[in-house]
Amino acid sequence: MTGEQSGDREDGVTRRLVIGTGAGLAAAGTMTWHLPAGAQELERPFVVETGNVVRLTLEVNGEVFGLEVDSRASLLDLLRERLHVTGPKKGCDHGQCGACTVHLDGRPVVSCLTLAAKADGRAITTIEGLADGDDLHPMQQAFIDHDALQCGYCTPGQIMSAVACVRAGLATDRASIREFMSGNICRCGAYVGIVAAIEAAATSEQG
Ligand code: FES
Ligand code: FES
Repeated sequence: MTGEQSGDREDGVTRRLVIGTGAGLAAAGTMTWHLPAGAQELERPFVVETGNVVRLTLEVNGEVFGLEVDSRASLLDLLRERLHVTGPKKGCDHGQCGACTVHLDGRPVVSCLTLAAKADGRAITTIEGLADGDDLHPMQQAFIDHDALQCGYCTPGQIMSAVACVRAGLATDRASIREFMSGNICRCGAYVGIVAAIEAAATSEQG
């Protein structure tokens, strides 16, 4: 039986999808969607059959994208699976390890617990967006200088939180740094180096 005979469309829209998404999808189908100038429109999404589809425009590391996503998709999955921005890591997928930390409008969030839909119209910065060309961000350099990593899996999230810590003016002493960074777990136990790197980066920024 062909897709047409079975009532399923070849673009992946099935009866179940239409029933599951109801009026919201119908409205989305007729909605006029204006992409910002220069935005890249990505191909049709992973549409999960029972999910609603939402259309987003968002900026990732200075690049603007327009795309459709399942309304239940996490920002982490959107970044890694759709946009192939793989700096943010999936450690626990439960908001407990901090490996997926990115900045949303300059504030650190765990992207595994942030809905992609919440990023509509907002700017996301990941570890890939910190360096200025070949020049590492001072926090990246400080992590290297202070051996603040072993396997490196937690490091993108550690650095994004560390940058936020300094920006918030909370890297004033080791206890404050430890408190701010307590949501970022390092299974290799590189904490001594991590705190030293943040202290050094904060001092060089102030100095
Ligand atoms: S993967 Fe997001 S907090 Fe662990
Ligand atoms: S460096 Fe391996 S988990 Fe942190």
